[in-house]
Amino acid sequence: MPSASPQTTDPYQGQRQPVLIRRARGRAEMLKFRHWHELAGNTGARAAARHLAALNDAGLLSAALNGGPLPAEHSALGRGGVAALAAARTMALVAVADGRIIGGLIAAPPIPLALQVAEQGPHAVVHVALNTIMIRAIAVVSQHRGYGVGRALLREAVATARRARVPIIFGQFDAATVGLDEFYRRCGMIVTKPGAALAFSDYLAAPVRHVPAAGHALFYLPLGTADRVRESSRPTR
Ligand SMILES: CC(C)(COP(=O)(O)OP(=O)(O)OC[C@H]1O[C@@H](n2cnc3c(N)ncnc32)[C@H](O)[C@@H]1OP(=O)(O)O)[C@@H](O)C(=O)NCCC(=O)NCCS
Repeated sequence: MPSASPQTTDPYQGQRQPVLIRRARGRAEMLKFRHWHELAGNTGARAAARHLAALNDAGLLSAALNGGPLPAEHSALGRGGVAALAAARTMALVAVADGRIIGGLIAAPPIPLALQVAEQGPHAVVHVALNTIMIRAIAVVSQHRGYGVGRALLREAVATARRARVPIIFGQFDAATVGLDEFYRRCGMIVTKPGAALAFSDYLAAPVRHVPAAGHALFYLPLGTADRVRESSRPTR
């Protein structure tokens, strides 16, 4: 499986070791995502990390995140359905400083969003799954916060989505957590009012919308145009 070249950043401006942002690898790093999910306040953190490890073991993780033509995704659909497609578009990133992992980010296609168009058939579901990425968790260990590590993780997630020609990346956060709205804004995201839904019709050829959980707000960043979306998601035969 090809992998993207690692990205480096120096958030500490020479005061500490530079931080490396790279894809997570190996079972231990996958299982560590339990911690990143927990720090981000997600339920089901243990199960989510085990699922990630299983996808990695099966060689499915991030298999279709390196840009290029899309037939691979359509054949993934043939081999393992939407679950395989979601796995192939899942990114698990880690931040490494001085040989230690100090943060993580996981993002994947939002399958419940894609299933909103299930009545229109499998290609409509594939269209949404291929053209959206939702950030599920982003977290940095407390002693390394405030040095740009979170921004570096988010930046690499956006760059990966761009390479995969995904036109919109988004996520949600608990609006009661002080500073998170500012963090996402500082990282260039558009932040919605708590409770406001996000309609994707400007970015996708599908009338889907994401309604945040109670007390949550959304952040998102458009990366492309609807015309390109329709073009890039046309199945090849
Ligand atoms: C949110 C989190 C990932 C941010 O990581 P981080 O490495 O501390 O963030 P960065 O240092 O990259 O910050 C980037 C920008 O956001 C700002 N920022 C970060 N946290 C902030 C806060 N709590 N309040 C206000 N601004 C904040 C920084 O000041 C910086 O701004 P600037 O450089 O433009 O001045 C980290 O605080 C964390 O792990 N929190 C716990 C987990 C969590 O809540 N995750 C989000 C769940 S949706």
